[in-house]
Amino acid sequence: MAIALAACGQSGASSPDNKPVSFNGAEAAETEAVLEHGQRIVKILGCSGCHGKALTGQAWDDDPAIGRLWSPNLTVALGDYGDAALETVLREGKHPRRKDLWIMPSENFRFLSAADMHSLIAYLRTIRPVGDRSPLPKLGPGYRRDIAAGEMKPAAMIIAENPDVLPADAGPDHALGRYITSVTCAECHNLRLEGWEGDTPDLAIAAAYSPGQFRELMQSGKSLTGRDLGLMKEVARNRFSNLTSGEVDAVYAYLRARAALPDPAGVQKH
Ligand code: HEC
Ligand code: HEC
Repeated sequence: MAIALAACGQSGASSPDNKPVSFNGAEAAETEAVLEHGQRIVKILGCSGCHGKALTGQAWDDDPAIGRLWSPNLTVALGDYGDAALETVLREGKHPRRKDLWIMPSENFRFLSAADMHSLIAYLRTIRPVGDRSPLPKLGPGYRRDIAAGEMKPAAMIIAENPDVLPADAGPDHALGRYITSVTCAECHNLRLEGWEGDTPDLAIAAAYSPGQFRELMQSGKSLTGRDLGLMKEVARNRFSNLTSGEVDAVYAYLRARAALPDPAGVQKH
């Protein structure tokens, strides 16, 4: 695995000229542009969705019957980390002092390119501490039941059980679209984009959208049929509306190419 990673860079996806791919703007060198890029990534990856608009933390659950779990106040927690430890928690789901990290989608963030990770961390470093430290997790009966049923797993375990599982490879021309889906859509549509039964569809469904309808879906969460897409609508508006039009088109082209593969959800390792 170490050899495979070294061969194709951290993101696991390479462009036709064999360079690791990144979100548009990752090649920025000037500080201001690097920080702007990092801030856009925070929105697209949903850090601000879970950790709160200003990253000051919010409860995921705080109910004695379930348990207590906060997406912690990052503005305060970031002071506990050097850059290397921060990259480890983001990529590997390994906390410097605690054993397990719940809900935090490191199984997706592990595929971030070095350039995108660099901008993300640079931006996080500009945030000043605001407010109090969030409460530590406390697993109540609800969480314990989910854990026993294997429905809730620590990030590091998901990674260990799915070593470098990426969405299907549709060729070098689709590297950018594949990359973007691996660090965003895969969080809810599963690492291979085949969906979770009863929850999210296989993203082959995107092939039913025209390019214009797909852009509209990513911008405003509007479905093809006019049905209210709930959480999908929220993530489109709050996160994917921050994608560039080139990125949206790359995701669409990739999802169409993937849908045409003989085994779109097949086991894919890089
Ligand atoms: C789906 C929700 C979700 C998303 C998206 C998410 N996080 Fe988290 N994150 C969590 C939760 C929940 C925890 C706390 C887990 C625990 O306590 O076991 C956490 C923990 C962390 C920690 C450890 C904090 C500490 O107290 O030491 C850091 C750092 C972190 N997240 C950064 C990020 C960044 C940066 C992003 C975006 C790239 C991000 N998170 C996206 C839910 C999320
Ligand atoms: C935070 C979770 C989440 C993320 C991240 C997410 N989705 Fe979804 N998505 C959903 C859910 C939930 C549904 C099912 C909505 C429903 O049927 O009510 C859905 C449904 C869809 C549908 C089907 C819409 C229809 O017409 O029925 C498409 C297409 C889709 N998502 C595309 C994407 C793409 C592309 C990405 C990544 C850029 C993505 N999603 C990321 C949660 C998510």
